[in-house]
Amino acid sequence: DSHPPSYPPLPCLPSLPLLGSLLSLMGDQPPHLRFTELGHRYGPLYALYLGPHYTVVVNTYQHAREVLLQRGKEFAGRPKMLTTELLTRGGKDIAFSDYSPLWKTHRRLVHNSFTLFGEGTTKLQSIGEAEGASRGQAIDPDPPLMRAVTNVVCTLVFSSTYQSGDPELTTVMEYNDGIVQTIARGGLVDIFPWLRFLPNQTLTTLTECIAIRDQLLSKKLEEHKVSLISGEPRDLLDALLQGQTRIKHNQGSGVRGQGSGAEQEEEGISDDHVLMTAAEAFGAGVETTSTTLLWVLAFLLHHPQVQERVQKELDEVVGCGRSPDVSDRTHLPYLDSVINEVMRIRPVSPILIPHTALTHSSIGGHSICKGSRVLVNMWAIHHDPEHWDQPEDFRPERFLDDKGQRFTPSCFMPFGAGPRVCVGESLARLELFLFVSGLLQRFSFSPAPGVPLPDLEGRLGVVLQPLKYTLTRGEGKRDGSMQCILVIQCFK
Ligand code: HEM
Repeated sequence: DSHPPSYPPLPCLPSLPLLGSLLSLMGDQPPHLRFTELGHRYGPLYALYLGPHYTVVVNTYQHAREVLLQRGKEFAGRPKMLTTELLTRGGKDIAFSDYSPLWKTHRRLVHNSFTLFGEGTTKLQSIGEAEGASRGQAIDPDPPLMRAVTNVVCTLVFSSTYQSGDPELTTVMEYNDGIVQTIARGGLVDIFPWLRFLPNQTLTTLTECIAIRDQLLSKKLEEHKVSLISGEPRDLLDALLQGQTRIKHNQGSGVRGQGSGAEQEEEGISDDHVLMTAAEAFGAGVETTSTTLLWVLAFLLHHPQVQERVQKELDEVVGCGRSPDVSDRTHLPYLDSVINEVMRIRPVSPILIPHTALTHSSIGGHSICKGSRVLVNMWAIHHDPEHWDQPEDFRPERFLDDKGQRFTPSCFMPFGAGPRVCVGESLARLELFLFVSGLLQRFSFSPAPGVPLPDLEGRLGVVLQPLKYTLTRGEGKRDGSMQCILVIQCFK
């Protein structure tokens, strides 16, 4: 081929030798908006130096499809970052581990157990209405939602269900929040690892939270090792322990891998892997799900007619004599379309977790060198006027066809796609469905009198979240207490 390889354009941003284009990205605007704007100016595919790292930014569905699906394996790597190395004991989790045979086995194990427990989960049950706020009183929906989602993950990971105020639940929520907050602020250390040698309060807090997390999870793991009954996994920890034994057994009988005992040990799923996976279910599964729920409520406060239509659908399909369960989902297409539209217009992960090119590859005909970082800007894709009519408008009907049945455009990818797609997607969707249906069946939400409607712009921390807001529960038949704790009940 006589043509020299063409690389994605490098926009001419003010750049300092060591900082690359970092300074110009650190203005008021969050990165997903800045990247979208740069796309309008320089074309949708371009490259930047973020610190020393050559980083390609993808802003269209066509290019995202190449990276995630068509050449998904070539782009399935993850960069090594200081905070995530600390968080995951050097990549012994799923999200930040590089693509490898062990990662594939590990991911499959987690995926299967989520499917197993997800399918066994048919409804959320209210187990207590302890701290009911009185009607009309303004409440912040964040703490009860966060508590409820944390409780669900505790149930799935180690079978514990807590009453509100239980000190163990508080510990889990505190360390999780500490990790999330410090990761959100720790960005620069990831780009310049030498910063770790400077006094850094963020890194110290992160290390402390990780120690508390690991102590609690190790205790749960040891308890599970003693009480595990073979063939009857109760939760994710049991499923991982069983997978661990199965893999060891297969290796022992020569089914997988040859070589010395030491090598085999290294290839298997270690206790560290089990712990890091359990930890990740919280790290990846709590903030994302509870924030999506906060966005749902925020948009419903702005669009009372949408809330009424969801409730009408719920009244027709479920009524008020029983709680909605999984089997109702197919009959509630409008409710699903509301959840989808919220995840389109405010994806909690507006930029996917960074990918890296594992080999020399290409995007849109441009060459991409091995080792390049690739950021997929899902925000730009979810707001692309080529694919969405009036993308800034909140219109759940986009996700329905003329007959009112579900319709999912392929450029809707709030969980990513391909080999690195969110491993918790089916679980997250189930939770979102059960929470939203359970809440709207029992409550009507409206803004507290005299209080402005929630800001819908949001702020980017680890996830894109709404600014704090309050709401009040409505009058009439839907007037249960907002502060109830919801837990998943498993029917096996
Ligand atoms: C990865 C979104 C809930 C576990 C991801 C990615 C996104 C995402 C965008 C990155 C995909 C990529 O890099 O291409 C979400 C959203 C959620 C949610 C929007 C809820 C509304 C969950 C839950 C769990 C979970 C409940 C587990 C309990 C993971 C893991 C990965 C991941 C382990 C890494 C997958 C890999 O690298 O192979 N998620 N997620 N997520 N998510 Fe989720």
